[in-house]
Amino acid sequence: MIKISPSLLAANITRLGEEIGKIEHCADMLHIDVMDGHFVPNLSFGVPVVAGIKKAAGLILDVHLMIDNPLRYIEKFSVAGADVITVHIEAPDDAEECIRLIRSLGKKAGIALNPDTPPQKIAHLAGKIDMALQMTVFPGFGGQSMERQAVDNIRVIREIIGADTDLQVDGGIYAENCAELTSRGANVIVSGTGIFGQPNPAAAVRVLRERAEEGAAL
Ligand code: DX5
Ligand code: ZN
Repeated sequence: MIKISPSLLAANITRLGEEIGKIEHCADMLHIDVMDGHFVPNLSFGVPVVAGIKKAAGLILDVHLMIDNPLRYIEKFSVAGADVITVHIEAPDDAEECIRLIRSLGKKAGIALNPDTPPQKIAHLAGKIDMALQMTVFPGFGGQSMERQAVDNIRVIREIIGADTDLQVDGGIYAENCAELTSRGANVIVSGTGIFGQPNPAAAVRVLRERAEEGAAL
């Protein structure tokens, strides 16, 4: 099933509630990027932002942790209201331990890979995760162009995780290029600039979904 997860990073942060209101009725999840200035060279949202959004919005909160020591923060994000918590395979903390902790808290666990990380690095986690996240840009910033290597990895990741686990793609995704990703096996589309950077974010969600479904049917 195709799911659309708009990335809050591209929203107008002075009006977050209003921005979320624009897509709440048509999106499946809300993607919240957490950066620590170490794992990626940028800072973004933290626990209080997730807690605030949880009170204000009814969407599933899809929290992408681009941080060095996720084990230290998983429980805090869980309490704040994260529904899906994704950690990076490149982070120093043990990924399997992170996944066990996330699931023990009753949340869905995701494992993310950077564009240049070999897909086999997550092979030992197949069957233990709810979602894989193939980054289609190097993490840290919105508005970048998609990396070809990452697109080529999607089929391999789908084979590794099997048909029943979600496969998310994140970075540089717009209506024009999203069918290529779903034709290769991705089913959860994250888009920041492609949604909140558009004049009508709800219309952008609808078009992305249409294109994604067309790609999945190929
Ligand atoms: C990048 C983030 C993405 C980002 C995508 O590090 O993980 O979620 O918001 O932004 P766009 O869709 O603008 O490339
Ligand atoms: Zn993200």
